[in-house]
Amino acid sequence: MNMPLNCRTLDTPPARNGAYFLLGGLALLANKLRYTLRGYRNPRPFPDTEYARAIAYDQGVVDAWMARLEAYLGQPYELAGKTVLELGPGADLGVGLYFIAQGVARYCAADVNPLAAKVPQEFYKRLVTNLIERGTISAEHADALLAEPELTRAGRPNRLDYRCLADFDLLAFGRNSVDLFVSQAAFEHFEHFQDTARQMAEVARPGALLVTEIDLNTHTRWLRDNDPHSIYRIPEWMYRLCHFPGIPNRMRPNEYVQALRQAGWSDIVVTPITTVSDDYLSEVQSHLATPFRTPEADMSHVHVVLCARYTG
Ligand SMILES: C[S@@+](CC[C@H](N)C(=O)[O-])C[C@H]1O[C@@H](n2cnc3c(N)ncnc32)[C@H](O)[C@@H]1O
Repeated sequence: MNMPLNCRTLDTPPARNGAYFLLGGLALLANKLRYTLRGYRNPRPFPDTEYARAIAYDQGVVDAWMARLEAYLGQPYELAGKTVLELGPGADLGVGLYFIAQGVARYCAADVNPLAAKVPQEFYKRLVTNLIERGTISAEHADALLAEPELTRAGRPNRLDYRCLADFDLLAFGRNSVDLFVSQAAFEHFEHFQDTARQMAEVARPGALLVTEIDLNTHTRWLRDNDPHSIYRIPEWMYRLCHFPGIPNRMRPNEYVQALRQAGWSDIVVTPITTVSDDYLSEVQSHLATPFRTPEADMSHVHVVLCARYTG
């Protein structure tokens, strides 16, 4: 798979620490209000109605996971016949259909928010047409693929099993059943990651793999580009006070590694995808909340991919 796996460094303007602390605090309060009143809605930076963009996004996400897995394993990962579990699929199940089109036996997905529950069938028709045009599937497989989102919506899942789980209890998918765990920009939202890591181990088959991209950046759009570490400036007591559903958990890569290791995962590799510049880091480091000033927090990382293996 020829996908560039280089690491990019963010080009941020000089940090104005006082002003950015204030802006970060205001953004947090505004988000608390917004998410408390409206709930967790569109997770992507574009409307759900932009089908072509959503299809390209879904396919890009899967292709990037596969490229990362290939780099991790030193050889391509064979999807045929596997059971895949996605954690936090978000706005639609395009990822699932793309996996099934590539031969996975079963694609399961767990979310706490039913974001993908009401996607119009028209979206999946466009996706399947695109898969035929790309040569991923032949036209005779279109109907079977298109039946999958309808079956899971009707509560009779076949190869596509999407579940909205308020408690995010992954054991709903059955022990010893999953070959590959995938996730995109969702781990940073999990509230009880230690439990999730343990449950993943329980539903994993021996030899199961995990590939996840974790977005450690501030999620508010303007601040992302100008002050990526905005959320890490806020003291713990204030961050806890402003808690809202979907708030980033502020876990750093070393904490994911530790929780996964404790749950029995091994060969854990974290690779940076995006880092902050040395200049930005030296300007903000002493202005961050205490837990984020330690070397272990490795504040240079703003976007990483984590791969791991469960050997049983
Ligand atoms: C930023 S979205 C990413 C969605 C999708 N993977 C994508 O790339 O567009 C975060 C996902 O995490 C889910 N999520 C938010 N809070 C969660 C929690 N506490 N536990 C589990 N999932 C959560 C959201 O419902 C959403 O599906």
